[in-house]
Amino acid sequence: MRLVATCARGTEGAVRGELASLGMRHLRGARGAVTFEGRMEDGMRACLWSRTAMRILAPLSAFPCPDAAALYDGVRTVDWTEWLTVKTTLAVDATGTAPGLHHAGFVALKVKDGVVDSLRDALGARPDVDTRDPDVRIVVHLARGQAELSLDLSGAPLYRRGYRTAIQDAPLKETLAASILALGEAALDRPFLDPLCGSGTLAVEHALSARRIAPGIRRPFGFQRWPRYRGEWQSTWDRMKEEARVGALPRAPAPIRASDFSEDALDAARRNARAAGVEEDVAISLADARSVEPFGEGGTFCTNPPYGERIGGQPLQLAGFYRGLGEAARRFHGWSLLVLSGNLLLERNLGLRPEWTHRLWNGPLEVNLVRCRVP
Ligand SMILES: C[S@@+](CC[C@H](N)C(=O)[O-])C[C@H]1O[C@@H](n2cnc3c(N)ncnc32)[C@H](O)[C@@H]1O
Repeated sequence: MRLVATCARGTEGAVRGELASLGMRHLRGARGAVTFEGRMEDGMRACLWSRTAMRILAPLSAFPCPDAAALYDGVRTVDWTEWLTVKTTLAVDATGTAPGLHHAGFVALKVKDGVVDSLRDALGARPDVDTRDPDVRIVVHLARGQAELSLDLSGAPLYRRGYRTAIQDAPLKETLAASILALGEAALDRPFLDPLCGSGTLAVEHALSARRIAPGIRRPFGFQRWPRYRGEWQSTWDRMKEEARVGALPRAPAPIRASDFSEDALDAARRNARAAGVEEDVAISLADARSVEPFGEGGTFCTNPPYGERIGGQPLQLAGFYRGLGEAARRFHGWSLLVLSGNLLLERNLGLRPEWTHRLWNGPLEVNLVRCRVP
């Protein structure tokens, strides 16, 4: 079957590379999604192991959708008794648009009507809707006059690893942090530093990768509540998780450091590292980013600097801060510098020539991932 990994715009390359390394085949990238082929078990494996994808979907049907009536009729051609009983709750999420179908709420309602009417005709009763915590989440995507109906294997989006207990200002999504590390090829067996760590997302994600800890090992997934799960997939899933547990390394192979000048940020980073099971791997300490010193060789200096308010917000102050950060980074001879920049002032003031820049979206913000080699 065809499966879909949805993702943030700009991270498709990271998702493709990751799915290829998981052995997924026939990978194709589109904006905000990568499709691949496999069995439902492969979708489950992608849920367990993908650090970069947002959701894993299993498409059930695609059909032309010129209007609401065609949408309802198309929904009714699917045999929903394979996926739902009258006791399973459902929710429908809608994305995209088609002519006359511009309101996600209305599109979701039409699909929900088609599903519950089909089940009522087949089973004599209607399942309940639970938009907050459904057993089965159905996704409808409208584009180019077509509707595609999918089941969402993930449940909560995959960036919810289950370890983030503490949030600081402007935290990165876990999936974006993992994409930055993958796109920037942060070496797992070399030292790592984030000197503006906030709640520690980059360092924690790096530690999880370095220890080969499956990002989904601590959380439940949507497919575990499907009626077919117990009979068909549970033992495979249990085995997959056991293999993941056995394969994790006891310690990260190289030192990982995270620092910040805010005690509150450090407190959040410590709590998150502990909840993720990597507190022994990430050394978290108080430091001004402009005074950090290198340790070890060939490491990655990877960070997401503030864009404004907290360091003054005035162009002159910002430029000064970024110059100071660049001076610190230039002491890390032989390291790679990986910076998520939302501000051109930063790129201009680092004093290093970028090897490449890559456009990403941090939520609604367009940002640049910049990689430099420190000579
Ligand atoms: C955008 S946040 C980083 C968010 C982080 N990537 C996360 O996912 O939580 C920037 C951080 O830089 C810290 N910071 C600002 N100026 C600093 C300085 N001179 N030295 C150390 N930390 C600083 C702030 O306290 C803040 O936590």
